[in-house]
Amino acid sequence: MFERLEAIISDPILRLMAAYRADPDPRKVDLGIGVFRDDHGHTPVLPSVREAESAVLKAQDTKSYVGSAGNPGYNQAMEQLVFGADHAALIAKRVRSIQTPGGCGALRLGAEMIRLVAPDTVVHVSTPTWANHGPLISGSGLKLATYPYFDAATGGVQFGAMCAALEQLPPGAVVLLHASCHNPTGADLSQEQWRELLALVRRRALLPFIDMAYQGLGDGPDADAFAVRLFAAEMPEMLCAVSCSKNFGLYRERVGALHLLGSAVPTADAAFSHMVRLARGIWSMPPDHGAAIVQLILQEPRRRAQWLEEVSGMRRRIQGLRHDVVQQLKVHCPQRDFGFIERQHGMFSFFGISVDQVHALREQHHVYMTDDSRMNIAGLRQENLEYFARAVAQVL
Ligand SMILES: Cc1ncc(COP(=O)(O)O)c(C=O)c1O
Repeated sequence: MFERLEAIISDPILRLMAAYRADPDPRKVDLGIGVFRDDHGHTPVLPSVREAESAVLKAQDTKSYVGSAGNPGYNQAMEQLVFGADHAALIAKRVRSIQTPGGCGALRLGAEMIRLVAPDTVVHVSTPTWANHGPLISGSGLKLATYPYFDAATGGVQFGAMCAALEQLPPGAVVLLHASCHNPTGADLSQEQWRELLALVRRRALLPFIDMAYQGLGDGPDADAFAVRLFAAEMPEMLCAVSCSKNFGLYRERVGALHLLGSAVPTADAAFSHMVRLARGIWSMPPDHGAAIVQLILQEPRRRAQWLEEVSGMRRRIQGLRHDVVQQLKVHCPQRDFGFIERQHGMFSFFGISVDQVHALREQHHVYMTDDSRMNIAGLRQENLEYFARAVAQVL
């Protein structure tokens, strides 16, 4: 069987990570892999997570199975975090939630749900979108198509072109949207644009599938969930995939959730029964550990307040770096306007330089970013902002 397989080239981001690790130069700068880093270049365990983790371990008296839908307390706490505690869709009991292994698990399960009901559905993703959206969604058998999104000239969104393309879609087509902190570009819609988009999506009877992987890291936990809450208030149906990898720093523990909004209680119940059966056929049961930590943090006011403070610390660091790197670039590369970096949100920006320039940065200056010039802003440090800006000036 497996003798027929030929080796495939490894994922470019993994190759970039390996090249960075192998580089002995002490000045090296890692803007590649998408994890939050502190000013020492470290991806820390959040203190609120560390404390909740000890409490979870202390209280745990069994390792027996939790169930295919995961931990009900976690699912409920996530619904409240994502939709806001008193959201009309929650009060109407139209939301069903399932704990998933990370946001990836949620995206895949959402795609499997769509395929189950309408296998010919096309899922439309932004140009560009996160590199793993393709494999996760088309892996379920659904087709993918793209809609215009990033405007390289302004570093913002081509909102007119995006709407014009979505306006052409047939009813039932799925639109995958990034709630906030768009990966890889950092370019988000304004609240006004979300309202316009909602009207379009409703009019054309499209199904919104919102991916929220950075709640809290853009403008704050409530502001970042604006689109999810708006759409859930007005749409009959939607899907929302959520990740706790970044905002809780729980990456390797694999914590996420898929929320499904049904048009009424019986249809939501029926959909949930299918969600659980599909999950049973893929991973059977989600890992418990990280979700138990999140549940404890969200449910205890003291822990929750501490976590919210830590999330704002991460957010302030990213916003501060965005401001400071633009200042440095102004000084060292005055011929080019990088002001868009400050207007964007979350960890990523599309830097807007050519592949050759990306390679020159890597080979001559030990600055690592992906070939499309996506940079993880949190990979910068105060101490190397000037080094980075000088390096950019030499390759432009
Ligand atoms: C846009 C987006 N969606 C989903 C995810 C899912 O992450 P995870 O499966 O690690 O929770 C990520 C992680 O990088 C992401 O950037």
